[in-house]
Amino acid sequence: MTILDGKKISNQIKDEIATEVAKMKERGEKVPHLAAVLVGNDGASLTYVGSKVRACERVGFESTLVKMPNTTSEVELLNKIKELNEDDNIDGFIVQLPLPPQIDTQQVLMAVDPDKDVDGFHPTNFGKMALDMSTFIPATPFGILELLDRYGVETKGKHTVVIGRSHIVGRPMSILMGRKGFPGNSTVTLTHSHTKNITQITSQADIIISALGVPNFLKAEMVKDDAVIIDVGITRVADDTKEKGYCICGDVDFENVSKKASFITPVPGGVGPMTIAMLLKNTLLARERHRS
Ligand code: GUN
Repeated sequence: MTILDGKKISNQIKDEIATEVAKMKERGEKVPHLAAVLVGNDGASLTYVGSKVRACERVGFESTLVKMPNTTSEVELLNKIKELNEDDNIDGFIVQLPLPPQIDTQQVLMAVDPDKDVDGFHPTNFGKMALDMSTFIPATPFGILELLDRYGVETKGKHTVVIGRSHIVGRPMSILMGRKGFPGNSTVTLTHSHTKNITQITSQADIIISALGVPNFLKAEMVKDDAVIIDVGITRVADDTKEKGYCICGDVDFENVSKKASFITPVPGGVGPMTIAMLLKNTLLARERHRS
């Protein structure tokens, strides 16, 4: 069994990006600039956005954090997005999800200039991804592809089962694993809350990508021997023994599933750090595109 070490690989990717940024500086060019918009004060979102900003510092990017109150109206947020779209100094930006209930998420995502949409959530970019065109691929699925690639995990002809159809992970992942090329060329089953007999489906899978957000959902009896297991779950579970008062729990019963798996991602230290590295990669790509 091999652990797919997202922390290690994400550090390698960040080092590669930092080298590119150093070259840009040497040539006297502007370095990539990522902005993140955070509406409200959801604890998990604060943590994620903080990690994204710190990652920018580490690779030499400029970063801007735009904090807006929980009471922000949709119009106020749309005005801020317009400002960021028009600001030539910003190469790419993200609006951290989820948004407060008074704001229509789709309207917000559609307002982002597709050329600055480093999350890859705009319908134009999502459509391009589905059509195999060059575009920004959403960071979490992109990170999973990169992890499979760097460990040389074979995906061609395999049966991949994706659990969860969110627009951020499950849906794009199902498209990417089925498309031509590597990693891809796999036969994909996308499962969700209405799927019947999920154990029957997961137990036939060569590769399982779980993006459900239910701690310890995937048990050993749902998995066949030598399966590849990708755990996207990052649920906070109360735990008084931990300094922060909670622990981060994946979708997979790691202790038992890892005994059957050929490759498996840990939580934390698997998919999570890869997401941040690939957001940086998309921002570098945005800078390069704006330059040319
Ligand atoms: N919330 C959870 N994951 C993500 C992500 O990848 N991007 C944004 N913007 N919000 C998220």
